[in-house]
Amino acid sequence: MTTPPRRPTRDAKDSASTTDWAFNERVLCSKKVRTIYLWGPPGFGKTYAAFNVGVDGPLFAVTLTEDTPMAELRGHYLPVGSEMKWHDGPVTTAMRLGARLVINELTHGSPDVISLLHPVLENPDTALLTLPTNESVRPAPGFRVCATDNQPPEELPPALRDRFDCILEVREPHPKALEQLDEPLRRAALRSFALEPDRRVSLRGWLSVQRLSSEFGLKGACQAVFGPARGAQIHDALVLGEAQN
Ligand SMILES: Nc1ncnc2c1ncn2[C@@H]1O[C@H](COP(=O)(O)OP(=O)(O)O)[C@@H](O)[C@H]1O
Ligand SMILES: [Mg+2]
Repeated sequence: MTTPPRRPTRDAKDSASTTDWAFNERVLCSKKVRTIYLWGPPGFGKTYAAFNVGVDGPLFAVTLTEDTPMAELRGHYLPVGSEMKWHDGPVTTAMRLGARLVINELTHGSPDVISLLHPVLENPDTALLTLPTNESVRPAPGFRVCATDNQPPEELPPALRDRFDCILEVREPHPKALEQLDEPLRRAALRSFALEPDRRVSLRGWLSVQRLSSEFGLKGACQAVFGPARGAQIHDALVLGEAQN
């Protein structure tokens, strides 16, 4: 079996300043930062942070798939009676209102969607979105974008990556999310986060096990959340891990 090449490690000071949740939250709250790319493993709290940290007004969110049409984000004409009326999409509305725009799963965006985002992510003096109505929309003060993804920034096309003021990496689950787990499940979760990505159990999975275990027991909850085979494995590892504690 081949091991994928490790990403270059940073020195301790550097990595503390780029992976620590407290630091990431300071950047999310900064009025000087307009555009952020927040990346890391699934279930670590990226979307929660993008929705909740440093948001003091309206928020608009989209989750991209390859099939998300650009017009859904920008806006489109809709028939109203015998007329066609223009309706702003969430990107345009967030720009007009000076709101936070959250874009989940950015790397899944189609080339059309990425082209739409280029001018949106520009500096305020050059950010300009021209609509099919011929109106040009500039971002109102307060407009911020936080994009989240599991992929490292190297996976973004360079021109898109370059438009983010800050690239924040998340390497540990948010402590507040972990606090929601009872002690044995928290210990199991921490052990599982250290595993290879394909063997890891996400925080979301552990939170579901905890929620269901009062009704189905621990074994039943593992089975319901992960399916019979993987659920049995995870349950056994949990019991074994606790026995070794
Ligand atoms: N700061 C937090 N406080 C409480 N719960 C959180 C926090 N961050 C994440 N969670 C919970 O953890 C789970 C995964 O978080 P999410 O933001 O969806 O992860 P990601 O976007 O990294 O995949 C969700 O159920 C969420 O409610
Ligand atoms: Mg997410």
